[in-house]
Amino acid sequence: MQSLDERALDQLFRIARTYQDWQDIPVSDDSLRSRVVQMGADVGQHEPRSLRVGAKFGRQARLAAEAAEMNRPKILASSWARSGLRRHASAPGNARAGCKAAELLRPTGITESTAMRNSTLQAAYLIIAARALGLNCGPMSGFSREGVDAAFFKGRQVRSNLICSLGYGKTESLYTRGPRLSYEDANTFR
Ligand SMILES: Cc1cc2nc3c(=O)[nH]c(=O)nc-3n(C[C@H](O)[C@H](O)[C@H](O)COP(=O)(O)O)c2cc1C
Repeated sequence: MQSLDERALDQLFRIARTYQDWQDIPVSDDSLRSRVVQMGADVGQHEPRSLRVGAKFGRQARLAAEAAEMNRPKILASSWARSGLRRHASAPGNARAGCKAAELLRPTGITESTAMRNSTLQAAYLIIAARALGLNCGPMSGFSREGVDAAFFKGRQVRSNLICSLGYGKTESLYTRGPRLSYEDANTFR
């Protein structure tokens, strides 16, 4: 395998931004169906089954109602807003033959932390996959998890983790980008 070219690295990371406001352009189903996100590695390969339920099209208003006030317009204006979900501690593992990860994890008492780890990883894969497909993202943790869980996942063994708006962002709404740590500051070798 070879490194992606500079343009691809720019699109995925260097010039990719977190979007606050959205153009009125729908996200095609083909983009959302691309088999990209589910290929990301996670503990026991639970896969983002948990990412598949969300506020699609008409349901943004219900999702926005549970968001912090500053986040509501960012959800309402997006083509798609997904609540990144994590599997509840007692949820069964991936039904894929031979994958019994949840059963293996349950006795060790780390299903909860694993579910949080996996769903956060899956959200990161979602963001990178969306950018690779030419979409923009707006992740948010400012919302009522209890409210979203009650509105969208009542009676199900899933819990919300974060919300991610997807669509075609308005560049004019971007803030000045925040600074990042240098390689030296971000890495400590002992
Ligand atoms: C998990 C997560 C939660 C976030 N929550 C919020 C939020 O509630 N409201 C908000 O305006 N931005 C939120 N952000 C956006 C971040 O502040 C933003 O991604 C960061 O400042 C980097 O911006 P940039 O990609 O434009 O450089 C969140 C980002 C992530 C990844």
